[in-house]
Amino acid sequence: MKQKFNKGYVECIAPSNIALVKYWGKKQTQIPLNSSISFSLSACQTKTKAEFSFGQGERNINFFFHGEKTPSFIPKIETFITRVEKLYPWLSEVEELTLKSENSFPHSSGIASSASAFAALAYCFEVTSCKLEGHEFNHSRASEAARLGSGSACRSVFGNYNLWGELSATNGNNSCSQELNNIHKNFRNVRDAICIASSGEKSVGSTAGHALMNGHVYGEQRIEQAQQNCTSLLNYLEKGDLWKAGEIIEEEALSLHALMMSSRPSFILMKPNTLKMIEIVRNFRQTQNIPVFFTLDAGPNPHIIYFEEGASLVESKLLEELRPHCEQGRIIMDSVGAGPKVLESFFE
Ligand code: DP6
Repeated sequence: MKQKFNKGYVECIAPSNIALVKYWGKKQTQIPLNSSISFSLSACQTKTKAEFSFGQGERNINFFFHGEKTPSFIPKIETFITRVEKLYPWLSEVEELTLKSENSFPHSSGIASSASAFAALAYCFEVTSCKLEGHEFNHSRASEAARLGSGSACRSVFGNYNLWGELSATNGNNSCSQELNNIHKNFRNVRDAICIASSGEKSVGSTAGHALMNGHVYGEQRIEQAQQNCTSLLNYLEKGDLWKAGEIIEEEALSLHALMMSSRPSFILMKPNTLKMIEIVRNFRQTQNIPVFFTLDAGPNPHIIYFEEGASLVESKLLEELRPHCEQGRIIMDSVGAGPKVLESFFE
């Protein structure tokens, strides 16, 4: 079929997200072994411009990262396109695809960029699909496409709090994420101060990391724990119970690292200053009676999760106490965000 357009472009911006219940372990093409819950960030994001020209020739892909031609990303993009072609069949008629991408956060910050990168790309494809085929924007399809690039990316196609993974017969599914409604006002404006314990240290790559769950000695118990934690956290998010939610958030962070420590091979990704910061957060919480918690990704940098209640004291006291334990005093200030945005699109 010949496209009605010869060429065009779409520019989108998509956020990273932080998991409160962790996705850890998957089957092929990012079918999660357990459900997960996250919130989308607002400062840490990827901006991507996708330029298309349509034709019958063989597809050529160009990739620019922060303005520099970066061919090393192209094989990953090829794989991604092969996977999403069933959702976006018009991709087979793209002769030239040029992607220009930039992250708002530094490469060495330890923040995973695959979530925001694949969410931005999937968003660009969904917008293009709407233009070419004249249908409504389909968030679930964009989320499914993002998942085929990187599992956690499916949660970045929406703003606010998200659930990904089948939780019950009527709630959640493995193919895409869904934004959670009925979040209590106590959880709105949640903040995330990302303390850079170490930027240099490489976290376990996601493929190797998830593979550690195959045959893991605690594998079955982990799935049960995560499913229960999702159900409980959903309930606390609706009721507004910050303290109970906080217990789950920290349990999940430490469970993720416990799973890595008890894998074969085993990984210790926390640094001495990671533990020091955890101790400081817990002491501060106890002495000030303020609901402030930490979480961790598959890396050494604690994310300090706090809320409207007590925010000024967390920022003036706790973060200043943590700063000397951060590499070059670096703390990235972020908060919950509204999800991706289309900046520009044009087809002719
Ligand atoms: C620890 O989404 O990066 O951040 O699906 O292989 O791309 P792939 O993995 P990825 O894994 C994220 C793992 C995590 C927890 C989470 O975000 O839920």
